[in-house]
Amino acid sequence: MPKITFRSPLQDLSVEVAAGTTLLEAAEAAGAQVGHSCGGVCACSTCHVWVKKGLETLSEQDDMEMDRLDLAYDVKAQSRLACQSKVDGADVDVWITEESLKAFMDENPDVRRQLEALGTWPPKKFA
Ligand code: FES
Repeated sequence: MPKITFRSPLQDLSVEVAAGTTLLEAAEAAGAQVGHSCGGVCACSTCHVWVKKGLETLSEQDDMEMDRLDLAYDVKAQSRLACQSKVDGADVDVWITEESLKAFMDENPDVRRQLEALGTWPPKKFA
């Protein structure tokens, strides 16, 4: 099974998932902090991630995803929406964007408060 690794200034987390799993589903299985304000239906851009390894192995980007990514912040050649990107059999390395990490904290204020109490949120430096 492919190993999916999620990296951020807070932590790195990995999980093994079956082919056909989206990066957002993998993030949830790993406990990684990928925002998903619309619930994974390609109606926001809060699940925006940069795929550092394995980009070419993901499902193809369709027009709807490209249109949504136009709304995202700091879009790069390796940008994908996690909810629209399915893995195949290859390992994938993902960087959670600042936009997505902040969205996750907005969606999960209890987690944000815990990290603030520990002094780890907000991180001194994003990617
Ligand atoms: S969760 Fe909204 S576009 Fe992916």
